[in-house]
Amino acid sequence: MSPRSAHAVYESPAFCLRVKELREKKVKWEDVALIVNSSFASKCKGLSLRKWWHDFGRKRAQHVVESPHTPQDMEEIAELYSKTWDGHLVIKGDVCIGADFHMPHFHADLTEKMVAMSKKMKIPNLLLLGDFANFESLSRFDHPDPDDTLKRELEACTHLMDMLLKSYKRIYWVLGNHDKRLFRALNFGLDLKQLGSMICQEALKERRLICSGYSFAIINDCWRATHPKSYSRIGGRVPSILADKFRMHVIGAHGHHLGLQVAMDGEHVGIDCGGMFDPAKIRYTQQEDSTHGAWTPAFTIIRNNCAYLFTNNPALTDWGFWLPKKRRKP
Ligand SMILES: [Fe+2]
Ligand SMILES: [Fe+2]
Repeated sequence: MSPRSAHAVYESPAFCLRVKELREKKVKWEDVALIVNSSFASKCKGLSLRKWWHDFGRKRAQHVVESPHTPQDMEEIAELYSKTWDGHLVIKGDVCIGADFHMPHFHADLTEKMVAMSKKMKIPNLLLLGDFANFESLSRFDHPDPDDTLKRELEACTHLMDMLLKSYKRIYWVLGNHDKRLFRALNFGLDLKQLGSMICQEALKERRLICSGYSFAIINDCWRATHPKSYSRIGGRVPSILADKFRMHVIGAHGHHLGLQVAMDGEHVGIDCGGMFDPAKIRYTQQEDSTHGAWTPAFTIIRNNCAYLFTNNPALTDWGFWLPKKRRKP
């Protein structure tokens, strides 16, 4: 029996219509109870048939006339065979966003600056916005670099994650298409949480590393940080479309370039946030030409819900202003 209340036992269409019919014939309640179901009182824990009728039965009977099913019947079927997908990460507070590390090909200098800026701005959280791992060895498209073995890639992920955990209270990791290469290779017998456990089991146990099976996270109910499936050569194009769609500010990874567009509503912004890769070390951008935009190293800090974009482009970021003193290793 379903976990619904005991009253539901008596809500069958036939039962309701029978009670309705008897009452319309002015049959007394005691006799109705005897006719429709002699065990009604015991099953309903003292609830009289009369009270049940006034509280539930009347409306139910009216509905039965209109439809042989209740909305609850349909909901039960839907719940039995399907589910809702609402398990995305929710992040509260200030957060630094580093996308597309493509380990082991991360940008060492910019990563050090990211940690230093987070410390300077007192940012407790880091969001790895997908493609933390490159998984070149599992690529469907290319002949992998023989030096990029899976073992070496995972070791690099662990090494950098250990370093980052020394600088942030909590690290969030959402899914990128490169991270998915491992799961696809294993016929989806593994998920990001298990990959996180392989990389840093202790932090995962202590909930200092939070992994998501979703490719986006919501920050302070107003920013959507995402590693989308879509791509555009025009920087800011995909996030601004998503900002329109979701009616919130959007920071997008995956495009590997920079760009900012205000959405059509004139209020929400879409930012392509570059990434924490080192383009010089990405084999397929160095060995082959494409019409895709140049990969641009960058990271973003969300502080008081305001976005600060940091790059190695002196036209956009004056590091002499932001980190004027000789930086020490964190
Ligand atoms: Fe990427
Ligand atoms: Fe990607």
